[in-house]
Amino acid sequence: MTLQTDIDSAAAQLKGRTPQEVLTWALGNYEKISLASSFGAEDVALIDMIAKIKPDAHVFTLDTGRLNAETYEVIAKVQQKYPQIQLRIMFPQAEAVEQMVSEKGINLFYDSVENRKQCCYIRKVEPLGRATKGLDAWITGLRRDQTANRSAMATVELDGDRHIAKINPLIDWSNEDVWAYIHQNDVPYNALHDQNFPSIGCAPCTRAVQAGEDLRAGRWWWEMSNQECGLHVNSDGDLVRAKG
Ligand code: ADX
Ligand code: SF4
Repeated sequence: MTLQTDIDSAAAQLKGRTPQEVLTWALGNYEKISLASSFGAEDVALIDMIAKIKPDAHVFTLDTGRLNAETYEVIAKVQQKYPQIQLRIMFPQAEAVEQMVSEKGINLFYDSVENRKQCCYIRKVEPLGRATKGLDAWITGLRRDQTANRSAMATVELDGDRHIAKINPLIDWSNEDVWAYIHQNDVPYNALHDQNFPSIGCAPCTRAVQAGEDLRAGRWWWEMSNQECGLHVNSDGDLVRAKG
């Protein structure tokens, strides 16, 4: 059986299952599997679910070097609450960052889309490649209603670039579902969520949203097209997300 047919049959089998059922299947089915966590609302909910299924499961986070203080605070709280979770903190290649910021400036991302993509590549996409190397599957907190690109995603899919499975247990959940889970289970969360930051990335590229704005309107807000950062876009696609 090819990986694709394997994944197709898993996707059919897992249709309509709860996130916990999907995680139980994934953690049992794949030996080398890790959650990608930005420690945003979806990801802390997933850590709580995973810790209840497999307390010593693997999680990785991409520390871009430009995260908010509140993000480091929630990482520390999660480490305290779930001490058995194996958290791998990935950093970008120091020399690549040094070269980029000395050539283009410390806040190069505001100057052009090209610069922003370069920064996201060096600080996130390249480390993601190292974090997923050798894995059979990775788990994400993606939700279908976050962006136009994400509306076509499935609970289990083939990550064509990395040739491993990508598991999205919350793909059918709403923002409200995520928050109900966090409150019911007393999960630590990023304090910025209480300051009108529904979606949190790097500090200089994330701001609070106004009432009625799209939940992702505070991400890369100065770019007219508001593109994805590259973590969830295939190498052959350059998909633009919906703007509210
Ligand atoms: S992004 O592509 O726009 O930055 P978003 O913040 O919506 O992504 O997060 C979607 C999912 O991507 C998260 O649930 C998580 O699985 C993964 N992810 C995003 N940022 C990181 C990060 N810094 N470290 C690890 N995983 C991340
Ligand atoms: Fe750089 Fe901003 Fe991308 Fe973070 S989100 S990696 S600071 S461009």
